[in-house]
Amino acid sequence: MAEEAHSQVIDQVVQDALDKASLTERELSAVAVTIGPGLSLCLRVGVQKARRVAGSFNLPIISVHHMEAHALVARLIEKELQFPFLALLISGGHNLLVLAHDLGHYTQLGTTIDDAIGEAFDKTAKWLGLDMRKSGGPAVEQLAQEGDAESVRFSIPMKQHKDCNFSYAGLKTQVKLAIASRNIDAKVPLSCASSLDRSSRADIAASFQRVAVLHLEERCERAVEWALKIEPSIKHLVVSGGVASNQYVRARLDQVVQKYSLQLVCPPPNLCTDNGVMIAWTGIENFRVGRYDPPPPANDPDDFMYDLRPRWPLGEEYAEGRSEARSLRRARVHPSLSSLVQASLQQQ
Ligand code: KG4
Ligand code: ZN
Repeated sequence: MAEEAHSQVIDQVVQDALDKASLTERELSAVAVTIGPGLSLCLRVGVQKARRVAGSFNLPIISVHHMEAHALVARLIEKELQFPFLALLISGGHNLLVLAHDLGHYTQLGTTIDDAIGEAFDKTAKWLGLDMRKSGGPAVEQLAQEGDAESVRFSIPMKQHKDCNFSYAGLKTQVKLAIASRNIDAKVPLSCASSLDRSSRADIAASFQRVAVLHLEERCERAVEWALKIEPSIKHLVVSGGVASNQYVRARLDQVVQKYSLQLVCPPPNLCTDNGVMIAWTGIENFRVGRYDPPPPANDPDDFMYDLRPRWPLGEEYAEGRSEARSLRRARVHPSLSSLVQASLQQQ
């Protein structure tokens, strides 16, 4: 279904982007396209389209890492943002803390051992019977404003692990149990709930959000300390990915960075959630330093093997941050972006 949805809209989406920019393909300098991480069926739709455009108009092509793009788009809006910097990338599928040394060179300080924070927001919204049209996160954030964040005592994940990894599966279960014990019926939409029911849902939303974000705060604080040891010159924490559009997340993380005299950089919400601008911008960054492939042929043969990287880490793991809980799940992972860039620089 996801592949089908991509195939149906890809031509129109590309055309709309060109129309909005009042450009034709002929005026482009290059084509940038995401090759991973993600579902290979969907990645293929994008890569095929990109190669068709690049091939027909004789344009170079740039392969982009989705998570690098979430981090780098911050440099489009904050011109002062130089490497090295620290980045927290929080979305529906990813929860990453990375130290960005340079373009294409990252050290992974932490990641999630199970679910990402956006997934926990989405499930909480669903179980609370909230309007999911804009995805769950914004609905939880809005309802949380009415609630008492101290009323439900959820425990903070992974307190005993002194690293920068994340876990949201346990918090999701705690939320589910709290909802069941208060007899909240997700089939009754919030708009039809009694005022008592509504305030009980709001308390859960606020308490969940507080603890979900406390977990981010603790991990970011440790990551800043690690990052300052490895790269003492860092001045910024970039927070990007869909969940970074949450105002409470921004305010709390701002408090964390102020303690270390760092600056928080959050792209505007429309550039935090998945978007084409971040891919184009990462293309520009790579293009400027000569990292691109020559124009592909106008038509790929039917049996062409596309270079798609569904599981593709951004960088090598920082030794202190290695988690045993994750070591069992490392099968069929592509070599990291950073290791590939390093290898090609050594060859030159
Ligand atoms: O980056 P993104 O658009 O797509 C992925 O790559 O996952 O992130 C989507 C995620 C969803 O889980 C959504 O619920 C969450 O970001 N999100 C939010 C907010 N806006 C989007 N979570 C919390 N508060 C928000 N305001
Ligand atoms: Zn994303």
